[in-house]
Amino acid sequence: MERIGVVGCGLMGSGIAEVTARAGAFVTVIEADDDALKRGQDRIEKSLSRAVGSNKMSEEDAALIRDHLTYSTDFDLLADRELVIEAVAENEVIKLDVFRKIDAAVVDPAAILATNTSSIPIIKLAMATRRPEQVIGMHFFNPVPVLRLVELISSLLTSPETTARTAQYATDSLNKKVITSPDRAGFVVNALLIPYLLSAIRMLESGFASAEDIDTGMVVGCAHPMGPLALTDLIGLDTTLAVADSLYEEFKEPHLAPPPLLSRMTQAGLMGRKSGQGFFSYRK
Ligand code: 3HC
Repeated sequence: MERIGVVGCGLMGSGIAEVTARAGAFVTVIEADDDALKRGQDRIEKSLSRAVGSNKMSEEDAALIRDHLTYSTDFDLLADRELVIEAVAENEVIKLDVFRKIDAAVVDPAAILATNTSSIPIIKLAMATRRPEQVIGMHFFNPVPVLRLVELISSLLTSPETTARTAQYATDSLNKKVITSPDRAGFVVNALLIPYLLSAIRMLESGFASAEDIDTGMVVGCAHPMGPLALTDLIGLDTTLAVADSLYEEFKEPHLAPPPLLSRMTQAGLMGRKSGQGFFSYRK
């Protein structure tokens, strides 16, 4: 697949646009407005400069990747795309609206419509389109250029051909490692990861241990690349809350209920790295 669309250019969408363009595809990036588009483009630029600066990419390759990226707010530019990956905010109402727009814009009858949702049932998004058999979950991990995993989630209506083509693209073109998950909240990774992050937040909230000690414990004691609170800051407290809400809604188990501290910090705009402050400070 050489003509890819990426809808949403936030933390995940910018990473997805970058890795698909790096893999040689012509990528059309769609955002809701010019400001969001500019922020997304800046994020991709920063990542390419970082790769060039650390000698992982030549200036020529970075220029080629830039040439493969088109930025727009016009969904109609998705008409000829073979694969469109949606990566807008983790909000069901917004995602349903975006899926209707993608479905209306994409003309290619064989096109695959994928979603990077962490928690919304794939079948709900599929049913908003005229081609549910071509809708699939394609869940990337942050930072997308670094982490090699992609979870593939087929709904009850996803065709085996859609699953096979998407798996082949992720493996052969993007060099990702694919695992499959049923269409259940959290899929495989977040069903394991989010309860762990919530436990760390509860530990902090109850005064059991300091943020520094919780994170140092897991980094130094268990060789995790980062502690659970720094990881929540990386994912975004808003996204972590949204995934926890979906898990709790689906399974109703008390350990999946988001702790009040997570809700209050999100309401206060303390969303982690992207806002400059979460459990730790990122202000320069
Ligand atoms: N883009 C591109 N490359 C990046 C990057 C980015 N945003 N961030 C880091 N890198 C690269 C660096 O260039 C460096 O490469 P090198 O080793 O070849 O020089 C390497 O990654 C390590 O980076 P740093 O030395 O700057 O920093 P760290 O060693 O502290 O690594 C980290 C940073 C890669 C973020 C690492 O701490 C890590 O992997 N943390 C765990 C992240 C994780 O668990 N993510 C999953 C979140 S869950 C999710 O996304 C699902 C969602 O649904 C919730």
